[in-house]
Formats: sequence, C-alpha cells, structure tokens
Amino acid sequence: MYTQAMSVGPQDQATKLESVEDRQRNEAFESRIDEGDFIEAKDWMPEHYRKTLVRQISQHAHSEIVGMLPEGNWITRAPTLKRKAILLAKVQDEGGHGLYLYSAAETLGTSRDQMLDALHTGKAKYSSIFNYPTLTWADIGVVGWLVDGAAIMNQVPLCRCSYGPYARAMIRICREESFHQRQGYESLLTMMRDGTDAQKAMVQDAVNRWWWPSLMMFGPADKDSPNSEQSMRWGIKRLTNDELRQKFVDATVPQAELLGITLPDPDLKWNAEREHHDFGAIDWNEFWRVVGGNGPCNTERLQARVKAWDDGAWVRDAALAHARKRAPEARAA
Ligand SMILES: [Fe+2]
Ligand SMILES: [Fe+2]
Repeated sequence: MYTQAMSVGPQDQATKLESVEDRQRNEAFESRIDEGDFIEAKDWMPEHYRKTLVRQISQHAHSEIVGMLPEGNWITRAPTLKRKAILLAKVQDEGGHGLYLYSAAETLGTSRDQMLDALHTGKAKYSSIFNYPTLTWADIGVVGWLVDGAAIMNQVPLCRCSYGPYARAMIRICREESFHQRQGYESLLTMMRDGTDAQKAMVQDAVNRWWWPSLMMFGPADKDSPNSEQSMRWGIKRLTNDELRQKFVDATVPQAELLGITLPDPDLKWNAEREHHDFGAIDWNEFWRVVGGNGPCNTERLQARVKAWDDGAWVRDAALAHARKRAPEARAA
C-alpha cells in the first residue's frame, strides 16, 4: 500500500514514491504504523509524514512559548504569595514544554533557528487562544481550567502518537498540564465559595469570554479539516476535532455546575439519545479572523516574542563563544 502518494496535494508531488525501493520502504513503514509501532528519528519515513510532524510539533512548541505571555502578564499581580508561586511554576512549565517540543521537532531534521524564524516572520501558526487578553485575575483561573483543560483533551491521545520522540515528550507534558488545570479550577473554586459578589461576577465574566475560544482550540469542524484523515491514518492523530470537542464539553459541564457558574450557551443541554451534550454553533468567522492575524492581541504577542529573541542575542552569542573556547578542551578530554 502506498496511498500517501495518491492523497498528497500538488506541492508534495516531489515526494511521490518513484522507485521500487521507495515503495518497499513505504510498505514496511505503513505496516509498522498498522501494527502500532513507534517510528523513531533515524527510521525511514515518507517526506509527507515528516513535514506533517514538523508542522504540527513546531506549531505546538510555538503555542507553548506564546502561551507564557498572557499568564506571565499576571505574575507581578498575583493576589497572594501562594498564587504567585503556583503561577510562576506553571509559566515555567510552559517554557519547558516549548523546549521539549522544539527538541522533538529537531529530530526530524529542522533547526530551532528555522522554526523560530518562521514564528517571528508570521509564517508559522500557534494556537489562536493565546491571542486573547487576560483582563482580570479570574482569567488566570479560567485559562488553567478551560485552556489547559482543552489542551489535555487534545494532548492525551498524542502520548500514543506514532512518532516516538513526540509521544514521549507528550507523556511528561500531560502530567504537568494536569497540574495546570487543577490549579486553575481550585483558584476559581476558592473565589466562588469564599469570594465577594464582585469576585464571583469576575469569574462569570471571564468564563463568558473564554468559553467559545476554548471550544475553537480543537480546530475546524471535521468536514472542514481535510488533513485530519491522513493524520489519523498515520497514527499522528487518534481522535477527530469534533470528537475531542464533544469530550471536552461533556467533561466540563459538571465542573461548571460544581463551580456555580453558567456556561454562555443557551443551546447547551444534555441529549439523552446521544448520551452527550448538544451545544450551540461556533462562530467560525471569529476563529478564522484570529487565525488570520486579526485577533485582539496577535500583533502584541508576536512583537513580544521578537523582542525576547532580539534581547537574548547577547546571551546566545556569549554561550556560543564559550562553547567554541571549550571545544578543544572537550576534544582533548
Ligand atoms: Fe503546556
Ligand atoms: Fe499548561
């Protein structure tokens, strides 16, 4: 079987499987995928599989480091020492997730400089959710609960992704994401149980603003997601966008009830026949507007990343100079 050559777009025609040897290698690759084997960095893989993974893992890495910005914004204003320590740890974790993921993408033959250049020049995407502002302290709890909650739903199946280095990075990341979700929920629970009316209203307002963008985190509806099928076939993706979104809604509704907040969707209700919650229509125009660069904070986020890169140039230069100086010693050792 070499279905890959038939399913690729015109830009990938160069990766067509030309020789008998290529076809045999592809058949061996496909049967390893079918058997549930992990593909490792040095194994042969079709170019389209490699490119799909580089795109997905690098976008994921960019999302982690851009995701540090909306929450980092509140570290100096956390209401207590405990909340500040938790938030610091969480934001550091996100930086670490970016590093694991850039390393995983590098095993596919792309350099970190290339990936960061694509981010800084606007060629690469990151999760649109991070283009929304964190306006109040309640946003930090809601980001943990909903945004990290949606990330977990997306990422747990990736622990079984067919590419070994990505799958292994995801196991550690998911453990940390689970702490992120719990700390957010616990912070909201504290505000809803012990807070003033103004604090409770602040939580409800934050939920109203983050609910729909969180549902958009799972990506376009399956019918508008043409690459999903190939990714499922290759074991890169295990569940479709709509399946993951439904799982997230079903898991979140009882949590919202326990908190005592209302999710901002009049059409949200339990459907006994489907044994799932029905929910209202997502505003896909908003989604595409934000993906296209016109969300509330796109420009600000990109500028912050470019500035961090430029400001860090001297550190990178000094580290390289130091490594060059030590190179002869290392060889002698
Ligand atoms: Fe993360
Ligand atoms: Fe997280």
